[in-house]
Amino acid sequence: MEKYIIKGGKQLQGEVTISAAKNSAVAILPAVLLSDEPCIIDNVPNISDIDCAIKILTRLGAEVKMLNKSTLRIDPTHIHSDTVEYELGKNMRASYYFMGALLGKIGRANVSMPGGCDLGARPIDQHLKGFQALGADNTVEYGMVRLTSSQLTGAHIYFDVVTVGGTINVMLAACKAKGLTIIENAAKEPHIVDVANFLNSMGADIMGAGTDVIKIRGVSHLHGSEYSIIPDQIEAGTFMIIAAATNGDILIRGVIPKHLESITAKLQKIGARVVEYDDAIRVTGTGILRKTSVKTMPHPGFPTDLQPQITTLLTLANGTSIVTEDIFDNRFKYVDELRRMGADISVDGKVAVIEGTGHLKGAPVKANDLRAGAAMIIAGLAADGVTEIENIHYIERGYEGIERKLKALGADIKKISVPDQYIQKQA
Ligand code: EPU
Repeated sequence: MEKYIIKGGKQLQGEVTISAAKNSAVAILPAVLLSDEPCIIDNVPNISDIDCAIKILTRLGAEVKMLNKSTLRIDPTHIHSDTVEYELGKNMRASYYFMGALLGKIGRANVSMPGGCDLGARPIDQHLKGFQALGADNTVEYGMVRLTSSQLTGAHIYFDVVTVGGTINVMLAACKAKGLTIIENAAKEPHIVDVANFLNSMGADIMGAGTDVIKIRGVSHLHGSEYSIIPDQIEAGTFMIIAAATNGDILIRGVIPKHLESITAKLQKIGARVVEYDDAIRVTGTGILRKTSVKTMPHPGFPTDLQPQITTLLTLANGTSIVTEDIFDNRFKYVDELRRMGADISVDGKVAVIEGTGHLKGAPVKANDLRAGAAMIIAGLAADGVTEIENIHYIERGYEGIERKLKALGADIKKISVPDQYIQKQA
């Protein structure tokens, strides 16, 4: 097992370049299956979720070549399987995109119920409702979702909840359905638009991505394409919060500032200085951190994937802040770890009340999931003393080169290996 050891208290300064969006990449790689020709995908993040998607593609019969450290050539022309087994699917929430992609490509899919971060109940009923409306039968047996259709046909689908995964999955399947599909109450996250742009670059006919009504006119053939993935909104937001939490000064390059507006607004309210450039954003601490309230919402609201990070920042602020988690049932599990560092937070259901103490103290903590892990890093960077973070494999699922990027900004962070034998003795 590996751990991060962070000596906190340093003001982080300098420049960091944001990697490609995880949640786009994990949908675009399965989407390549829909093409009748090879595709080249540029700006692919080097994270463990992508390793997992590549394994699944290869197991299905696609040929995946790494042309350089961030460019993949994927040839989907020799797919010979419709099955994503539990052993592979359990490691990654986004394995559900192989349902829509395989259904669109070959009219059938046999994919394990998805794994991913434990944030409370995460049903996929809306995905299945969408596939069913397009004419696919589904059964769930022994943890595997089996979908079959002799001919997908366009349909009018109204999602009961705003779902990122459901919106993308139905777009994937509907691309090659016969006729027009209309998705209402669609999610509007930047990666929805990115996936639609990629599909359109292969010859799909999708309009309205980024609004709550998406129209997809099915086509019979999708061709190869070369496409570059957008920057990661959540990685950028995490570095913005790191700048504020360490009273630092960070120029965050390679971002789309429009995607970061809800974070910019909150950080300015809390007291940080934020300056936007064409493709960069600079966050500077002012020595002031004020209380505020935050409620997570679908895009363009404040993203749930930055909720643990901003809650951590608010433990360092003056006064009582309130954070409401409106997307997931159970996304405050990491609060126990922050309490070990001296945070004063009470949680009642979906609401956390944070009594800002102005400081945190280093402690051994663990990452409960990907974004909770990012919150532990922020806490460790801002705390007095040494913080040890366990379970860092969660963090490496979604943050490319986080240790290297933080060191370049002046953080005192190192990764160490802990012998398993030692861990067992401690258990
Ligand atoms: N929901 C349903 N039924 C469905 C689908 C969703 O009830 O069929 C509910 C969920 O339980 C949740 C809400 O709708 O309460 C939103 O879920 P959504 O489908 O939007 O989330 P997701 O597709 O499972 C993606 C990201 C998450 C991110 C959420 C919300 C990927 C692979 N995952 O999950 O990312 O938090 O959207 O923006 O894109 C992360 O990156 O750390 C992460 C967890």
